[in-house]
Amino acid sequence: MAQFRREATDAYLGLSAATRDYLERMAAGTTARPELLIRNLPDMPDLPPTPTVGQMAVTGNTRSEFIQVAFSVPFGLPTSYADQRDGRLFHDIYPIEKNALAVSSQSSQVHLGFHTEMFFHPDPPDFLFLHCLRADPAGLAETGVTAVDDITALLTPSEIDELRRPLFALDLANLHGAYLHGGRRITEADPRPVLPILPNTTTPGADGRFRFEPGLTTPTTTAAAAAMKAADEAAEKAIVTGKLEARTMLIVDNRRTVHSRSPFVAAYDGTDRWLRRVMVSKLSDGSDLGFHERLDLEMCRAWRDRGALIRSVAYSKDGGAA
Ligand SMILES: [Fe+2]
Repeated sequence: MAQFRREATDAYLGLSAATRDYLERMAAGTTARPELLIRNLPDMPDLPPTPTVGQMAVTGNTRSEFIQVAFSVPFGLPTSYADQRDGRLFHDIYPIEKNALAVSSQSSQVHLGFHTEMFFHPDPPDFLFLHCLRADPAGLAETGVTAVDDITALLTPSEIDELRRPLFALDLANLHGAYLHGGRRITEADPRPVLPILPNTTTPGADGRFRFEPGLTTPTTTAAAAAMKAADEAAEKAIVTGKLEARTMLIVDNRRTVHSRSPFVAAYDGTDRWLRRVMVSKLSDGSDLGFHERLDLEMCRAWRDRGALIRSVAYSKDGGAA
């Protein structure tokens, strides 16, 4: 991967100065918009049919990965998470029939609500890259992005204040995958971190990150529940939407946006929508691997080690106050 990244860096340096300047400003978080849609990327020659099972495709070439790593250069390093797709760096996103209704990137028939990527993780990615290899043939799948500044502009000062307080318990037991507590699967009986949603660096254990996933968060007071609902509604009002087409790549700043996806119709016949995803983090850990690895599966311990508030909070089915 280190060599791959060196070669991709040469490709990045071959981009125009104006393009590199924009990407660098976006990486620094200083562009007016926190997302970027890149068009007219190279074709994917001999792209096989979209897979219909499993978690990854065998394409026989690495052109898509090369494009993604080249554009990632100013943004940080590709990042793998032990629990995400067996720790792979590049994720093939396509609909799977058995997950059509799941809250999952493999779904199709459900609306994937607003969220920040890996909202529950102490080290979520700073940026999310979605390279579209094949568009949804029916053109129904719509990706939405809302800037956090546009959300807060629609909220009252007291709602913003609520969202900055550590009043939101992460529903760790409801995450997909195999996160652990004391070496075994997390259950609803386990204590869990209670964090702010909006950036706040004065709360112990908080890290100034924006973390949002109403479907997997339990507000611990009625006012906190109302503020989270207001933020979700504000995200809908201020949404920017688009349909990913082949040869495009969407980059979103995960530090200052939420994103969502509309339902669409999957045929499971090789023609379905197919994205390739990579998560990118700025934080440098001195790695010379050319990527970051996030191997810890003990989320509660990781948050406790950071001084976050850990409490036993009952899970609520409707996402309202427990
Ligand atoms: Fe996502």
